Amino acid sequence: MRVVFLSPRYPQEMRQFTRGLAEVGAEVLGVGDGSPEPELRRYLSGYLEVPSIMDEDDVIARVQGWLRGRSIDRVLANWEPLVVLAARMRERFGVPGMSVDAVRGFRDKQLMKERVAAAGLRVPRAERVRSVKDVWRAVEAIGFPAIVKPISGAGSADTYKVESTRDMERVLPHLRHVVEASCEEFIEGEEYTYDTASIDGRPAYESVTRYFPNALEMRSNEWISPVMVSVRDLGQPHVQRGIELGRNVLRALRMGDGMTHMEWFRKPDGEVVFGEIACRAGGACVVDQMNYTSDIDLFREWARVVTVGRFEASTERKYNVGVIFKRARGQGRITAMVGLSEYYDRFRAHIVEDTLLRPGTPRRDWKATLLSDGYLVVRHPDWDEACRMAFAAATDIQLYAS
Ligand SMILES: Nc1ncnc2c1ncn2[C@@H]1O[C@H](COP(=O)(O)OP(=O)(O)O)[C@@H](O)[C@H]1O
Ligand SMILES: [Mg+2]
Repeated sequence: MRVVFLSPRYPQEMRQFTRGLAEVGAEVLGVGDGSPEPELRRYLSGYLEVPSIMDEDDVIARVQGWLRGRSIDRVLANWEPLVVLAARMRERFGVPGMSVDAVRGFRDKQLMKERVAAAGLRVPRAERVRSVKDVWRAVEAIGFPAIVKPISGAGSADTYKVESTRDMERVLPHLRHVVEASCEEFIEGEEYTYDTASIDGRPAYESVTRYFPNALEMRSNEWISPVMVSVRDLGQPHVQRGIELGRNVLRALRMGDGMTHMEWFRKPDGEVVFGEIACRAGGACVVDQMNYTSDIDLFREWARVVTVGRFEASTERKYNVGVIFKRARGQGRITAMVGLSEYYDRFRAHIVEDTLLRPGTPRRDWKATLLSDGYLVVRHPDWDEACRMAFAAATDIQLYAS
């Protein structure tokens, strides 16, 4: 099987998906900007370096010339900005997989909600807005609090909660560069993910993760140490309702083969509400988190799913896995870590990964990457215990920079 895989170098976890493809026996042709380093090279049968992977027409033309008659069996992407390009290439080259129209349902937040709502599922009331006038008209219909966010955003960029007319006046200048936005009803409640590896839209693997606090708050406040805990016991009634919603969403949006990453809310009255969904794996170590949850390798299973339509790993859930992202106080380089050795003394047996930046390392831009100044991964079969360890890492460990 010959596979074109877009952007095998970036983001970081794409290297793991590339490895997965090679391990299930695919011949991997990578296309991306920059040149792959030797560890990645060994999983690639070929690589086309392009000036800009975001320039869709140019990439399609270059790949067509490069392939020159070589037949290909799949065109794949697991990074949000490239999923439509992959679908366009499939259509252009006559390769099986999700169509451009189906993929748009996972990319355009308004179309997504319209299709999900048409299947009778609960979505936030929302309107597509293209001008300041549209925004005012939309909030009038929707009411406060409302959310304004780009139609095809990611990582909570340019996403605002607005509580009043005054708030809206303050936010509007920040949205000037956004061509199309979604203005929607603000849903109060707990936020969860629903992640899958799906074959022809039917989940072969399912996982749910809870965000503490909700994603928008973790992405807007630097002092917060964001926490995500995967839920070991999917049988709990409130989690089941989210899973049911997720399965129906996959059907409504005509999911094909691959991984999906959905977000949903559980309101205080128990109602579950759709948030958004992508037809690619979750970023920011969501895949690692699932791997630690079940002790499996979803990078390889994704590859098996998209090449031969089979999932072979165990779906047993052994742990609740907590990921805690840390942000240093101060700017510049990390100078000190406080509380880490005490944390190890308490929880050593349950810590499975520690990527916290050590003294001397420059800080990362917490706005640009949820990975922030590194993270800890802890796991425990008991939910309360896993949360206790995760919250302790959030509150008891501090990084300092200067
Ligand atoms: N209608 C909404 N109600 C409440 N919170 C929302 C709503 N829409 C977005 N958010 C918050 O903003 C975050 C980012 O929005 P989302 O649609 O997931 O965009 P992105 O593609 O940037 O992840 C969500 O994870 C959630 O915390
Ligand atoms: Mg999101």
